[in-house]
Order: sequence, then structure tokens, then C-alpha cells
Amino acid sequence: MLHKRVHQDIIKAQENDPVYGGRGLSHQAPKFNIPAQEIKPQDAYQMVHDELMLDGNSRLNLATFVTTWIEPEAKQLMDETFDKNMIDKDEYPQTAELEMRCTNILSDLFHAYTDDEQEACGCSTIGSSEAAMLAGMAMKWNWRKKRKAQGKDTSQPNMVVGADVQVCWDKFCVYWDIEMRTVLMSKENNYQFQAEKAIELCDENTICVLGILGTTYTGEYQDIQALDTLLNIYNKKTGYDIPIHVDAASGGFIAPFLEPELLWDFRLKWVHSINVSGHKFGLVAPGLGWAMWKDWSLLPEELIFHVNYLGGDMPTFALNFSRPGSQVISQYYNFVRLGFEGYKKVHKSCLNVALFIRDELIKSDLFEPIINNIRMPLLAFKLKDKKDFSVYHISDKLRYHGWQVPAYTLPQNCEDVAILRIVVKEGFDYDLATLLLRHLNEAVEELETQTKDTHKPQINTKIC
Ligand SMILES: Cc1ncc(COP(=O)(O)O)c(C=O)c1O
Repeated sequence: MLHKRVHQDIIKAQENDPVYGGRGLSHQAPKFNIPAQEIKPQDAYQMVHDELMLDGNSRLNLATFVTTWIEPEAKQLMDETFDKNMIDKDEYPQTAELEMRCTNILSDLFHAYTDDEQEACGCSTIGSSEAAMLAGMAMKWNWRKKRKAQGKDTSQPNMVVGADVQVCWDKFCVYWDIEMRTVLMSKENNYQFQAEKAIELCDENTICVLGILGTTYTGEYQDIQALDTLLNIYNKKTGYDIPIHVDAASGGFIAPFLEPELLWDFRLKWVHSINVSGHKFGLVAPGLGWAMWKDWSLLPEELIFHVNYLGGDMPTFALNFSRPGSQVISQYYNFVRLGFEGYKKVHKSCLNVALFIRDELIKSDLFEPIINNIRMPLLAFKLKDKKDFSVYHISDKLRYHGWQVPAYTLPQNCEDVAILRIVVKEGFDYDLATLLLRHLNEAVEELETQTKDTHKPQINTKIC
């Protein structure tokens, strides 16, 4: 979020408000300029701690895909390693070793290896957004290099995406001057991605087609195998080499465990790179992502910087320099601790909770899911019939109980469909799900009662 300077009048008005009289603070600390004096650590802690009570409870945050609960042992490891800067590879060689092992594990999970000699190719990032930028740059550079070698124009690169693309790709296209070509979503097609429409948008300037394994809007697994088949035919016919990048921010940590047979990854010919969020279903606290390539030939050498000022030669491909190392350590902990069976168990139980909620919503006859084929623990649903209130009112009502359930509209061409979305994560069990359902039903009942006589002023007794 971008911030503006806070106006001086507001700063002045706050200067003399007394708070913490009994704790050594006789007046409010300045909030928007640096205080002249120091205070005791306990006082500073208490002040910051108390202010944060106003934040929502992250365990009730069903909006986020990002981990809100981690095991005490993972927390302990993170506490012990908060001081490790991921970039200091020479100073913290073992942290670097764990990152290397994680990329090897992910390469294996995503079936990058075609022979025993092949090396893993990937890096950790601060999240999927940074990973998307890195993979996107590699594809732009590869496309440009080929065009230059052919003596062709390189001024108009484009990228083909579904309309339900996550904002990181809009950013990528704007920041790196790429035309975004969008396949519209449609009700007639049950809000599903149409691979054949994506191919129609391709041409000689297409740097890649994006496939999404677990969309942000509905959780859909786009049919990446179909996309690969169609792109193979198209590339053969035209002589182009348009690759697929898979945004597997969520699904990349689910499909390998719940649907190992599903073809979406490096087993497909044109899937050249994948981004995945360690801090989503990789079960690591924020922020960690991974950018992975099928092999080293897809990573342009010009994008790799070799630095020696920390000692040794260190090849890096990253947008930033310093970054915490504890998330990578925590990712490795999860791999060792959970293994294949453990990840499968966690994701299966989250998926079961999501399916339980889905079934109850259908039974209530008030809501309907947006897509039927729910493959990751995400439920996007809408009001079944038109009412005098909207999903936004329901979202507000749920907030009274602390639940954070976002309401939003589907993307371009389907903006008239407003939905609610619940992401089930580790720590959200059947008991909490039952409470959420109760509050959801109560919210609808209250709204129905309130809207019976729309002329009466609405007084909400709960908050009076
Ligand atoms: C499909 C998809 N791609 C990319 C992102 C961005 O991920 P991150 O928050 O790890 O940067 C998200 C975030 O929700 C997402 O759902």
C-alpha cells in the first residue's frame, strides 16, 4: 500500500493526549515523527502490542491464502534464525545449503528431472509475486534474444492470461512493458478458463501463455495439459516457441500431494517455469515463494548477477538483496517434518473441511458454489437467489464475530457476480467451520428480517 504524509494538524492534536499514565508514559508518543527521547523497552513493547489488538485475529482470517498457524517447533526455529540474512550465503552456508535442498525437493516434486545428471534450477523469493517477476523476465529475455537473432522487431511483447489472473501479473506487464492479452471469463463456460481462446490470442510477439493452478478468484485448476497440447500444435504450425508459465502459487503445493497423477508441471513439454508460494500451502509463515525452471538453459545468463563482496562467488537472481532466511529454514523444517504423507494429510483434511462447508451451504439452499470441481481448500460461493441484500452485507455481519470473509466481484465480463470466498488453512477445523456456518446463517436471517421493511431505520442491536 502507498502512504501519504500525515497532516501536521493531526500530529499536533495527538501530542497531548495522555495515555499510559501508570506505565511511565505521561503523554502519547509521537506517531508520525521520531520521538526526541527514548522510552523503556517494556513500555514501547506494551504500547505497540496493545495497538495491534485492533488488528483482526489472523486465525479467523479466511480471506488470506497465507499461513496463519505454524507448529511451535517451526516458530522456535524461526526465532532462533531471525538474524540470518538469506543473501549472506558465505556467512551462513548452512542456510544456503537448506535453500539448495528445498529447490532440489521442489524440482523433484514438479518432475523437472529427466535424467540423473540434471540439476535443479530455482531460487527462493519473498513470495509468488517476486517469483512471477523473475520467471516473467526470463521469458521476455528469451523471446527477445531469439527475435534479435532473427533480425525481427522486439518492441511489442505480449503475454496471454485468463481474466482471473492475480494482480502480480498485471504488475509484471506494466513494470516490464508487456501487453496483457486477456481471455475473458464467461458464465456460459461456468467461469472456467478456455485454453483454445488463449491460443487464438497468441502471435509471434507472445512471450508466454500463463496457466494458473488454483486461481485467486475461484480456486480453479486451469487445464494446463489441454493448454500444452494446443500450444504444441500451434508452435509446430507456426515455428514459434511460446512457453507456458504456471502460476502455481497455491496449487503447486497441493496437487503434487493430492493429485500426483495430474499433469500440470514440468512433465508437460511447454511448461518452462513455475512459481509457488512457500507461505501458502507450503505451510510456512509469510513471506516465502519459489521460482522454478525446467532446466538451466531457460534462465538467461544476463539476468544472473555474480557478487563477490560477501566473500566467494555468488550467483543471484532476485529483485531485492537482503531477505530473511528463517522462512527458508522453516520450509526445510516442513519438508523434513511432514514428508509426503504429512503434507497430504494436512491438505486432505483442509479440503475435507472446505467440502463440508460446501455441502452445508448447498443444503441451506441459500448459497451456491461458483465452481463444482473443488480441488483445493478454497470455496467461492454466491447467494443462490437475488435478495434485498448482498454478499457485502453478509461479509460485514460476519466481521462482528471476528470472521474475515471477503466479498468481491468476479473479473471482467462477470463483474455482475459478487461472491464470498473462504480459504481453509491448517488450523481451521470442523468445529470452527460449524461456528462459521452458524454465523453465516444468522447473518442471512438478520438481513432478511431487516430488509422486510426497508422504510424502517435499521438499528443493529448487536452493536448498540
Ligand atoms: C494465483 C496467485 N498468484 C500469485 C499470487 C501472489 O502471491 P504472493 O502473495 O506470494 O506474492 C497469489 C496470491 O494470492 C495468487 O493467488
